Amino acid sequence: MKLLEGKCGVITGVVNHRSIAWEIAKVFSENGAQIILTYGNEDRWIFKLASKINAVKVLKCDVTNSEEMKETCEKVQSEFGTIDFFVHSIAYASGNDLKAGVINTSKAGFLKSMEISVFSLIEFCHNFYPFFNNNASVISLSYLGAERVCAGYNLMGIAKSALESANKYLANDLGEKQIRSNVISAGPVRTLAGIGLPNFAEMIEKRAALCPIKQNITQQDVAKTALFLASNLSERITGEVLHVDSGYSVMGTWSEKSSEVK
Ligand SMILES: NC(=O)c1ccc[n+]([C@@H]2O[C@H](COP(=O)([O-])OP(=O)(O)OC[C@H]3O[C@@H](n4cnc5c(N)ncnc54)[C@H](O)[C@@H]3O)[C@@H](O)[C@H]2O)c1
Repeated sequence: MKLLEGKCGVITGVVNHRSIAWEIAKVFSENGAQIILTYGNEDRWIFKLASKINAVKVLKCDVTNSEEMKETCEKVQSEFGTIDFFVHSIAYASGNDLKAGVINTSKAGFLKSMEISVFSLIEFCHNFYPFFNNNASVISLSYLGAERVCAGYNLMGIAKSALESANKYLANDLGEKQIRSNVISAGPVRTLAGIGLPNFAEMIEKRAALCPIKQNITQQDVAKTALFLASNLSERITGEVLHVDSGYSVMGTWSEKSSEVK
């Protein structure tokens, strides 16, 4: 039996074929899930991609529009009743704020980033709460910049810290109905959001050598962990941050010599 057979849920954040959410949608579909996709304001690729995995529905949902989000969640409920998973794969910070450093972050940019990257997770969970099946799974995406200073990550790091904290509190609230909430902290991947970060190209180039597993990660690595988190295999895991980063986050100092272990 496929891991997500009989399960139906919502995946946000597919903007093109490089999106982490797209790989998650593909892997979930291959594993028997019925998938509803939501997108923000960019619809250039979403319908074409949705048809490749026979997504059961595609809905527009700009998370800065609370009315639109409420309507989207109600449409899901009226057509599908309940859902078994929700994937939050949405983030935003303006290029200017990222470049400027935290100390020069604009108030408007800060609030917008928090609204899109953090509050939207809480608001989706609030809207879906009555329609989540017992044993449903909420999954969101973060980065090491939530825990440590990562060059160029700046405002996004603050937003990801808040997201990881929200995940814990949501896990506590949702746990009342045996619903779980977990974060995947992914290593850098070449996506639209990724390449918008200062230092991204340099990071991809140099990072693999510093990881215990000397390889950068791919969208598929994240998708396989999301599959585990959406499946019944992870039933008693909640409030966690799972690092999918070839082990980069466990390293302290490093030396080229340490890679000579036979
Ligand atoms: N790419 C990386 O290196 C990396 C690493 C760790 C975590 N992440 C996280 O993974 C998630 C997905 O990003 P990605 O790398 O796949 O990039 P992506 O650009 O493919 O996805 C980002 C998504 O956010 C959506 N979005 C932005 N504003 C929105 C709004 N107002 N309403 C609705 N949707 C909106 C975009 O439409 C897009 O689909 C993000 O949370 C990102 O921070 C990415």
